[in-house]
Amino acid sequence: MFISDSLTINNNGHLAIGGADVVSLAEKYGTPLYIMDEDKIRRTCREYNNALKECYGDNFLVFYASKAFSSKYIYKVIDSEGFGTDVVSGGELYTALKAGFPAGKIAFHGNNKTPAEIEFALKNNIRDFVVDNVFELHLLDETAKKLGVRAKISFRIKPGVDAHTHDFIKTGQIDSKFGVALENGEAFDIIKEALTLSNIELCGVHCHIGSQIFDAEPFSHAAEIMMQFMASIKNEFGYELSELNLGGGFGIRYTEKDDPNSIYESVKNFTDTVKCEAQKHGLKLPFISIEPGRSVVAESGITVYTVGSVKNIPGVRTYVSVDGGMTDNPRYALYGAEYMMLLPERPSAKPSGKVTVAGRNCESGDLLGEDVPLPEVTPGDLLTVLTTGAYNYSMASNYNRVPRPPVVMVNHGEDKLIIKRETYEDLIANDLM
Ligand code: LLP
Repeated sequence: MFISDSLTINNNGHLAIGGADVVSLAEKYGTPLYIMDEDKIRRTCREYNNALKECYGDNFLVFYASKAFSSKYIYKVIDSEGFGTDVVSGGELYTALKAGFPAGKIAFHGNNKTPAEIEFALKNNIRDFVVDNVFELHLLDETAKKLGVRAKISFRIKPGVDAHTHDFIKTGQIDSKFGVALENGEAFDIIKEALTLSNIELCGVHCHIGSQIFDAEPFSHAAEIMMQFMASIKNEFGYELSELNLGGGFGIRYTEKDDPNSIYESVKNFTDTVKCEAQKHGLKLPFISIEPGRSVVAESGITVYTVGSVKNIPGVRTYVSVDGGMTDNPRYALYGAEYMMLLPERPSAKPSGKVTVAGRNCESGDLLGEDVPLPEVTPGDLLTVLTTGAYNYSMASNYNRVPRPPVVMVNHGEDKLIIKRETYEDLIANDLM
């Protein structure tokens, strides 16, 4: 009935997530409130691991792209499911290490890692760096030399694949700030350069074609291109790369219109391509990695708000304002992202019309959705936005000095607070005078 199998209607007629009553959680922790279902996250991790094992054997590692949701607790959950993690900043790396995440399963991404971040990562012996450009390659080599270590790397390659997704989250084409391109020879040149550097250990290549991709075909296409590239590296330099990372981007369902492939279908598709290409080019089967972020956490999460004013402008529209908004979920303002919403106190009530759900920030674009079908709403009602587990908390801000909401993790009906609500004191903690 619901978009996520974490959600049910309980005996009180309320919305429940992971077996916990959403209305009771809102009373206990206040609103706005993020709630995530740990069991759902774990089931998704297992789906990835089982699919890869079945289709490819043991020669793989799934890295959770922690930009989707980074907190100490999530690193513990995904570590216990046998995942690695990718980080894109010193802050994500610090959080993972503080959570006790094994450094040997951390990959460092980003198009402009700072010298301090590179040194921090090297000193902590992370697994590898996904190097973006030639400047970074030399910075990494010099820093590794200074520290007396060798940095294991792969290169981020733009395979030139069109991922059929929103322009802002497409990354595989030549006009992207990420990585080096195949079509102009840049990727070839940087590999040649890396092979001359004494403190660099080149292991593989990486690509990430975009995010929220529904079809398996662009992933297979990227895998084919990358395997061909690995073959041409072997032919040209006599050097066989041992690792292939195909990035993240597996799509999920925000609304009923979304129709992504299952995890199994996507995995089967690209692993078949890798096997076929390896045979065709006489390559050993590479160690495969992928980096799902959104698909690991998005469907596990919801956000609960309290409705304040309901402003009906006759002949124009009705604004339903909630006690959060673009500060806890900027995705409608940024991408026009659509979400499903319902009233957790009466989740099966039929919609009585369409409204615009607005946030509480001083910004006209601070909306969570337009033309949202909802039952009659009155001030004081709770309102739930579904599928907010990814790129919500991690993209939240303190615009208008609005404190960030807490995150509650539920598991088989039990709830625990994993991130507390920010206070006004937290907001001024760095103000020195
Ligand atoms: N690997 C790399 C190198 C990436 O750049 C990304 C996402 C991922 C993996 C994970 O992709 P996922 O599986 O989550 O699609 N803020 C945007 C999404 C930005 C994605 C950035 N990179 C949003 O809210 O839709």
